Amino acid sequence: MRVFKILALFMAIALLLISSPDFISAQDEDAEYDDAAYEALLEKGKEYYNARCEACHGADGDGKGFVDIIRVSEKNGRVLEIYPRDFTVGVYKFRSTATGCLPDDKDLMGTVKRGITKSLMPPQDNISSEETEAVVEYVKSFSERYEEEDPCDQISVADPPVWVASEKSIEKGKKIYKDMKCWECHGDLGKGDGPKSNDITDDWGKRLLPFNFVTGELKRGSTAENVYMTFTAGLDGTGMPSYQDTLNEEDRWHLVSYTLKLMGLTESDKKTASH
Ligand code: HEC
Ligand code: HEC
Repeated sequence: MRVFKILALFMAIALLLISSPDFISAQDEDAEYDDAAYEALLEKGKEYYNARCEACHGADGDGKGFVDIIRVSEKNGRVLEIYPRDFTVGVYKFRSTATGCLPDDKDLMGTVKRGITKSLMPPQDNISSEETEAVVEYVKSFSERYEEEDPCDQISVADPPVWVASEKSIEKGKKIYKDMKCWECHGDLGKGDGPKSNDITDDWGKRLLPFNFVTGELKRGSTAENVYMTFTAGLDGTGMPSYQDTLNEEDRWHLVSYTLKLMGLTESDKKTASH
């Protein structure tokens, strides 16, 4: 804690120096405005982060907060941990951008607001849009990737076709699930117990199990669009690949039908799409 305090003091002094009138007058006017606005946003983000996120994600964003391991469980004789993310790596699961890309700001804002209940990250119900923007900007500042790379284009998702979750589409999706080898990790019946399921280590060096569709509630939210986006963009850092180049749009929606069936969500879908 002491080290952090000294560091914070150092940063505060550095900030004061940078924003002193002499320093600013040396820069051109646009840059002066942008830099000051950005620093103010970061400062706001830091304030929110320190109050709501630091306990888990750590003052330096390295995932080593006060609660560095949230929950430990055991499955098949292996230890599984739920642990906060290290932001310094700059790798994100819940993106709407191609695999290997940085997420769009909207992806991060969505995650922050929604929380990841399955991973025990709380939702931020009363956060304002300005605070959301600020805290996301602060989270991004922990990783050098943001200085080096630009975010990629967003993958667009159309409204689900009316036939999603119909018997016929589920049958087609079942075949795609088999052909695309989702079962190698997720298991024949989607219980997360495929032949590769016991050997997955994530990019942060921890063991991770594939999603169990049967008891499943998606980490990013369980709508048809979210399932579609998950296997289209992939879950970077988890070994779960992107199928953006290997499945056409129609087949993707059939696959959504089948996974919704595995998740027991087709009945309600049928009702909303009734015709
Ligand atoms: C109780 C602990 C806890 C708190 C508090 C918390 N988080 Fe998290 N956060 C987690 C865990 C655990 C993960 C990893 C989830 C996973 O990979 O399944 C995570 C992951 C994330 C991710 C990565 C999502 C992705 O796409 O990979 C972001 C961004 C994030 N948190 C932002 C925040 C922000 C901002 C706050 C404060 C407003 C916050 N978190 C508060 C536990 C927490
Ligand atoms: C190499 C192993 C592997 C393959 C192949 C694989 N997945 Fe996954 N998948 C995973 C892992 C691991 C997770 C869990 C990630 C986590 O919890 O952070 C996951 C999670 C998911 C999730 C839940 C995401 C969330 O938000 O919780 C869905 C949906 C999913 N996979 C669908 C599929 C589909 C459909 C296919 C085939 C087209 C597929 N996966 C192929 C490993 C795999």
